[in-house]
Order: sequence, then C-alpha cells, then structure tokens
Amino acid sequence: MTQFPRQPNQRVLVAYASEFGSTAAVAAVIGQVIREAGVEVDVRSVVDVQHMSTYQAAVVGSAIYNGQWLPEAVHFVRHHAAELSLIPTAYFVVCATMSEASDERRRGAHSFVDAVLETGPAL
Ligand SMILES: Cc1cc2nc3c(=O)[nH]c(=O)nc-3n(C[C@H](O)[C@H](O)[C@H](O)COP(=O)(O)O)c2cc1C
Repeated sequence: MTQFPRQPNQRVLVAYASEFGSTAAVAAVIGQVIREAGVEVDVRSVVDVQHMSTYQAAVVGSAIYNGQWLPEAVHFVRHHAAELSLIPTAYFVVCATMSEASDERRRGAHSFVDAVLETGPAL
C-alpha cells in the first residue's frame, strides 16, 4: 500500500466519482483508514474539489460504466494532471469486473485505470 506522509499539517485528498453510491462508500472507507493512520483527510466528490494546493497526497477513484471512468473523474484527472504528478497519488476503480478475483479480472480492472492515465492532461 502507498505510504502516506505523517508529518504535521499534512492532508490527503480522497476524490471520487460515483453514480449510485458504492464508489462514494469505498472512498469513505479509504479515508477512514488513512485517518486512523493519523493523517488529516478530505473525502470529496471530484466535482467538489476546488484546490489541490492544500494536499500532499491524493487517492482518486471512479465507478466504471461501459468500460470507462465517469466523465467527471476523467475531467478531474486531466484538469489536475500537473498537480497530481507532483504528489503521491493512488487510483482505484469500483466495478463489477472485480466481483471475482482472478489475474484476468485484475488486469481488466487495471486497464480501466491505465486507459485514463495514458491519455494525459486536457489541452
Ligand atoms: C449500466 C451499467 C454499466 C456498467 N458497466 C460496467 C463495466 O463496463 N465494467 C464493469 O466492471 N462494471 C460495470 N458496471 C458495474 C458498476 O461499475 C458497479 O455497479 C459500481 O459499483 C457502480 O458504482 P457506483 O455505485 O459508485 O455508481 C456497470 C453498471 C451499470 C449499471
């Protein structure tokens, strides 16, 4: 697991895009686990994140629909690509693909993330 900073005044962002709530629930648990490690955390929908300058690390996740991240999550990653590249950032997806654990399913879930990260920032 990614090691998050533990120095004072460090804050982690957990940003998510969710249509029906399960990705929001996963984001809340991720935020809770980080908080229990003694780090300040904001768990926010991607559409509610105004500034990135407050954060020293980030976790970004999206639900998968029709093989893709939700558009607002793609926009978030592209819009904040420069800032995210400067801090430790972890990505996650919530999808039916991982309803069974296997290497093939894991590769499928990874490919959802890779597809977004390979496209780079919006011009
Ligand atoms: C219309 C529809 C399309 C979906 N497409 C995919 C898909 O292509 N791949 C996948 O793994 N899961 C797919 N799912 C499953 C969702 O990713 C899963 O239900 C997820 O938990 C939804 O997250 P949310 O509650 O945060 O919106 C789909 C679900 C629906 C209803």
